[in-house]
Amino acid sequence: VREIIHVNILGNSYDITIDKDLIANVGLEIKKIYSGDKIAIVTDNNVDKIYGARVFDSLINAGFNVYKIVIPAGEKSKCFKVLQKVYEELIAFQINRGNMIIALGGGVVGDLAGFAASTFLRGIPYTQMPTSLLAQVDSSIGGKVAVDLSQGKNLVGSFYQPRAVFIDTQVLETLPERFLYDGMGEVIKYGAFKDKDLFKLLLSLNSKEELLENIGVIIKACCLIKRDIVEIDEKDMGDRMLLNFGHTIGHAIEKIHNYEVFSHGEAISIGMYAITRRSEELGITQRGASEGLKEILEKYELPISFKGQKETVSSIVSSISGDKKNIGKKMNIILLNSIGDGFIKAIYQNEIDDYISLDY
Ligand SMILES: NC(=O)c1ccc[n+]([C@@H]2O[C@H](COP(=O)([O-])OP(=O)(O)OC[C@H]3O[C@@H](n4cnc5c(N)ncnc54)[C@H](O)[C@@H]3O)[C@@H](O)[C@H]2O)c1
Ligand SMILES: [Zn+2]
Repeated sequence: VREIIHVNILGNSYDITIDKDLIANVGLEIKKIYSGDKIAIVTDNNVDKIYGARVFDSLINAGFNVYKIVIPAGEKSKCFKVLQKVYEELIAFQINRGNMIIALGGGVVGDLAGFAASTFLRGIPYTQMPTSLLAQVDSSIGGKVAVDLSQGKNLVGSFYQPRAVFIDTQVLETLPERFLYDGMGEVIKYGAFKDKDLFKLLLSLNSKEELLENIGVIIKACCLIKRDIVEIDEKDMGDRMLLNFGHTIGHAIEKIHNYEVFSHGEAISIGMYAITRRSEELGITQRGASEGLKEILEKYELPISFKGQKETVSSIVSSISGDKKNIGKKMNIILLNSIGDGFIKAIYQNEIDDYISLDY
C-alpha cells in the first residue's frame, strides 16, 4: 500500500511517498508536482547501472526533456571537485531556475545533488529519490544537504527542502547487505530513542527476507519520527539533537579509524550500546535497556564494541571536543530513560569521561 507522509517546514510543504514501483512510475509522479520541461537526474555509477535507464525512460515517456549526470559511487564524490562537475553539466544542459533536479541514489548523491540544487542559480527545485536504506530513513528527509572538505565531513552545506521525496522500497533488494545493515543502525536508533513498538517489531524479525517484507512499515515509522522532529526544529537547535543518539561516540569511532574500518551505522551502533550501558550503570537508564540494544544490534550484524583495538577513551574524547556540534563549553548528549524514550542532557565537556566507558 502507498503511504504518504506530509511534511510542513516553514513555508515549504511537500510529501514523502513510500511505495513499490515508484522508480518505474516516476515520470507520472513528477508530472503531478512539476510543470516545467527539463529534468537533470544526478546519480552514481552503481545506481545508474541498475535503475538509471528505468528512471530516464519513465521521465521521457511522461514528456520531459531529461539529462543524466553520473558521479562515481562513494563518499569521496561528496566534494567540491565533483560538485563543480555537476554545475558544469547543469550549465551544459542549460538548466534554468524553474527546472528540476532529481537526486537518485544513496546519501552521497542526495547530499551532493541537494547542495548543488540549493546553490546553483541561487537555488533550483529538487526531488529526492533515495535508494539506500540510510537515505530512505534519514538523509533524504529534513533538508540537510552538504559536501565534505578534507578537514571534515559535511562542513559546507545548507538547509534546503526538496519538492518531494519518493521512496521506492523495492530497490533495497539490490542494496549490498553491508549497506542494508548499516542503514539498520539508524533504524534501530529511531526505535531506541522514540518508538518502542518499532523496536519490538525489529526484534521479532528473523531473516533478511522478513525484514524486507516489513520494510515499508519500518521506513514509514522512521520517516514519521524524523518528520515530527524536523518540523519543530528544522535548524538543529533543539529536539533535532535527539537524532544524534549514539552519534557522539560513533563519530569519534569513525574519525579515529579514518572512516575506513567502521561504517557510520556500525560506529553509531557501538556508540548507542556504549553510552546506554554506561548510563544504565549510572542509574539513569532503566535496567535491561543495554541488553535489549545488544540483542537487536547483534541481530542485524552490527557491532557493540571494538574488537582487538586499543583506542583510549581520552583519544575519543579529544576527538569529540572537535565535534562541530558543541557550543561553548557545554555539550549535549542523548541518553535513554528506557527503550523508546530518549532525552537530551546538557553536560560540561569535561564531564563526558563519566559517560564513556568502552572497556567491556
Ligand atoms: N543529509 C542528512 O541529513 C544526512 C543524514 C545521514 C547521512 N548523510 C550522509 O549520507 C551519506 C551516506 O549515505 P549512504 O550510506 O546511502 O551511502 P552511499 O550514497 O555511498 O550509498 C551506499 C552504496 O550503495 C550503493 N547503492 C545505493 N542504493 C543502491 C541500490 N538500491 N542498489 C544497489 N546499490 C545501491 C551506492 O552506489 C553506494 O555504493 C554520507 O555522506 C552522510 O554524511 C546525510
Ligand atoms: Zn547517523
